[in-house]
Amino acid sequence: AGVFTYDPGFTSTASCDSTITFIDGDKGELLHRGYPIDQLAEKSHYLEVCYLLLYGELPSAAELEKFENTITRHTMLHEQMQYFFRGFRRDAHPMATMVGVVGAMSAFYHDSTDIKDPKQREIASHRLIAKMPTIAAWAYKYSIGQPFVYPRNDLSYAANFLHMCFSVPAEPYQVNPILSRAMDRIFTLHADHEQNASTSTVRLASSSGANPFACIAAGIACLWGPAHGGANQACLEMLKQIGSPDKIPEYIARAKDKNDPFRLMGFGHRVYKNFDPRATVMKQSADEVLDLLGVENNPILATAKELEKQALADPYFAEKKLFPNVDFYSGIILEAMGFPTSMFTPIFALSRTVGWVSQWKEQLADPQHKIGRPRQLYLGSTARDYTDIETR
Ligand code: CMC
Repeated sequence: AGVFTYDPGFTSTASCDSTITFIDGDKGELLHRGYPIDQLAEKSHYLEVCYLLLYGELPSAAELEKFENTITRHTMLHEQMQYFFRGFRRDAHPMATMVGVVGAMSAFYHDSTDIKDPKQREIASHRLIAKMPTIAAWAYKYSIGQPFVYPRNDLSYAANFLHMCFSVPAEPYQVNPILSRAMDRIFTLHADHEQNASTSTVRLASSSGANPFACIAAGIACLWGPAHGGANQACLEMLKQIGSPDKIPEYIARAKDKNDPFRLMGFGHRVYKNFDPRATVMKQSADEVLDLLGVENNPILATAKELEKQALADPYFAEKKLFPNVDFYSGIILEAMGFPTSMFTPIFALSRTVGWVSQWKEQLADPQHKIGRPRQLYLGSTARDYTDIETR
């Protein structure tokens, strides 16, 4: 009994107060603590944005240095954790490995699981941001049968991630500064996005008082789906399947056909009904990276650009306000850097960790917060008597 409002997909339900991220979907505007995403992507860098998201203000030089030192101090994983990686099949999807390993962190870092202790909460948030690149890189190394590469604290956050993914003991990977800048920009563009499905999952898991590692593992699981973080992998696979610009009309026709489940991956967004500002920066970055790598006339980039052009000119996409989202161009950059498609969503997960952690921290500090417990509209049978099996 009871009268509840059913809001499928929570399209008009606010689940919390927040001061972290603002999106104006009609204008295509994204602000972190008031700062526009394009300015942050251009002028700032990922760890500075992490500080901004976590603490609300841009850091002074001294605050930033201290924060960077703190994060780099936590980049190693407990040595025993490598046996968790080794327990997986080699062909496990790195997202499956990440869900398991991040969940297992609560069994390794007992001194940062007491959410009532502000100091432990702080250490947990630093550990998660610091260790996620190591976890994602090790999930990748394991999947290709190469030895785990330990983090290097003399490198930047992004350069260190590239090092852990692409160095082998026989030969260190020479990190190109333009590529590490592009990697950093991908991290920055994915850092937070208010109450999306995975962030809401983290908040709901946390509302019961679960420890931070369990909550972030829940977020990773939710992110994996192709409607959310899994779209970057699905998008590149789609672009490859299309193969060349002349096949585009066929795929656009399929996306418009209500009897065909096919959707244009990397297109459309629940909140943006205009250009996703992250996609604009990502498109520029894709051009820069492919130029640098000397990949001229890349057929996938050419297909993506032509697909974008044809879709935007099509009344179906215009009427439904479907524009390219952050996932449309990110895969092209990641593939050019040497990542397999299965690593695209793990890279999204590591970038989004700071958003999840900032929202989790904000939630725990909110005096109004209580367990999330939606109700339902019950449509099943009214009460009836049990019947014996012989009489059914
Ligand atoms: N291709 C073709 N048609 C689409 C697409 C698409 N990509 N996206 C939405 N539509 C149509 C949909 O069929 C529906 O039509 P109708 O009103 O006639 O039934 C209408 O547009 C509204 O779609 P919806 O599914 O009700 O909208 P939603 O807000 O529930 O879904 C979305 C948003 C992102 C899940 C959806 O646009 C989608 O599936 N896009 C492709 C996957 C994707 O790129 N996801 C990444 C999102 S951005 C990164 C992230 O936050 O994770």
